[in-house]
Amino acid sequence: MQIDRILLSEEQIKAKVKELAGRINADYKGKEIMAIGILKGAFMFFSDLVKLIDVPLTVDFIVSSSYEDTASTGKVNIHYDTRKPVTGKDVLIIEDIIDTGISLNYIKERLLAKFPNSLKICVLLDKKERRLVPVGVDFIGFEIPDEFVVGYGTDYNDNFRNLPYVAVLKRPG
Ligand code: IMP
Ligand code: MG
Repeated sequence: MQIDRILLSEEQIKAKVKELAGRINADYKGKEIMAIGILKGAFMFFSDLVKLIDVPLTVDFIVSSSYEDTASTGKVNIHYDTRKPVTGKDVLIIEDIIDTGISLNYIKERLLAKFPNSLKICVLLDKKERRLVPVGVDFIGFEIPDEFVVGYGTDYNDNFRNLPYVAVLKRPG
């Protein structure tokens, strides 16, 4: 599999991450954030974003999967869950991409069952037209077209996650 073209450059992403952090800082003024990154996809976005957040913050992670090759299986697996209690916390879920919404909806409902004080979601990439389950996303980086993307944490079978930009994957044939 190969890259077809760059969709979002390193510079575009950097500017957007800064903008999102600014919005989050304003929104959470006077509060403490429990930032929960959804791995593996969010690892790069998560680390760049939290560096620019200036309200008190703790980090935790959920490791989940739902994809095989370039298709969602529709079934969400949780391989690792948060260690610290979520009850009463101001939780901010940080995710690389929302597509059908199945994964984030599942994770959101699962966390809400533990009674956080508040729960918001921040995603870098939104494939809005692909949504099957409505999920309220509070902070969105870029709306992108219905194409399979890789890079900046997102993958094709675990490859390309290290690219510093977001690229469209070349379709076979
Ligand atoms: P959803 O459950 O369909 O919203 O899918 C969310 C998850 O699917 C993301 O966290 C990604 O892991 C994966 N995903 C969806 N679209 C893409 C893509 O274009 N490239 C890479 N991974 C994707
Ligand atoms: Mg993901």
